[in-house]
Amino acid sequence: TLINVEPFLTLIENRDDLALQLKEKYSLKDIFVVRGDADHNSLVKEELVRLMAGELTANLLNGTIVSVAGGSTMALVSKFLKPKHDNLLFIPARGGLGEDVALQANSIVSRLAEATSGEHRMLYAPDSISKASLELLKEEPMVREIIDLNKRSSLVIHGIGDALQMASRRNVTPDVISKLENDNAVGEVFGFYFDADGNVVHKVDTIGLQLADLKNKDSIFAVAGGDGKKEAVKAYLKLAPENTILFIDEVIAEHLLG
Ligand code: F6P
Repeated sequence: TLINVEPFLTLIENRDDLALQLKEKYSLKDIFVVRGDADHNSLVKEELVRLMAGELTANLLNGTIVSVAGGSTMALVSKFLKPKHDNLLFIPARGGLGEDVALQANSIVSRLAEATSGEHRMLYAPDSISKASLELLKEEPMVREIIDLNKRSSLVIHGIGDALQMASRRNVTPDVISKLENDNAVGEVFGFYFDADGNVVHKVDTIGLQLADLKNKDSIFAVAGGDGKKEAVKAYLKLAPENTILFIDEVIAEHLLG
């Protein structure tokens, strides 16, 4: 019996037509669109990350420093990277944001280094300490090093999240939730929460990469899939610099064009 494998092969494919329309509307470095909705098919998220890992590899040089954010999307990246360059260095973009350990940037950089035979650094900076302790921590040489490396890194990889979903996943206090609701926060990237106009309405007090640093990077690889993130991505594009390379699925792409 002949088995027709075609439907499986075409299950996930790029939507270059949508990407082309988006590139006319948004001035970003590049945009990639994968068919489907990541909220309904986990293969879509994998495909987004696989595509991103391919583009990331094409941008790596020996000795490249990469700032890495946390989250379940970033946690998949190591699966698709190979040891093709020397002396890569992966560093956490920011300190603790209240995520589960497997989703923390610290865990993700160690897996990325392992996959590429590169190096990584850890950032031990909890997210719920007083301002005074945070200032003291910034003077620690190990912490200083990460702050400096985040200034010097040429590439950044990060996910984009829905504001209230991220807040509840990170068990933030009820007063922060009310603040996010009152200020109409819709999206979040590495600890910065923003409204639909791209105004930052809240930021987690921690150490590391700042939104203002992004414009100095060679490329920023931002990945998000799923209907639940469409407002977050739309809002993020109001503040994302032009050196951003965006990887999204069809459901978000259609929303951005609408
Ligand atoms: O915590 C880092 C981060 O990349 C956030 O910027 C983003 O909101 C979140 O992860 C996305 O998480 P996930 O990939 O699990 O949806």
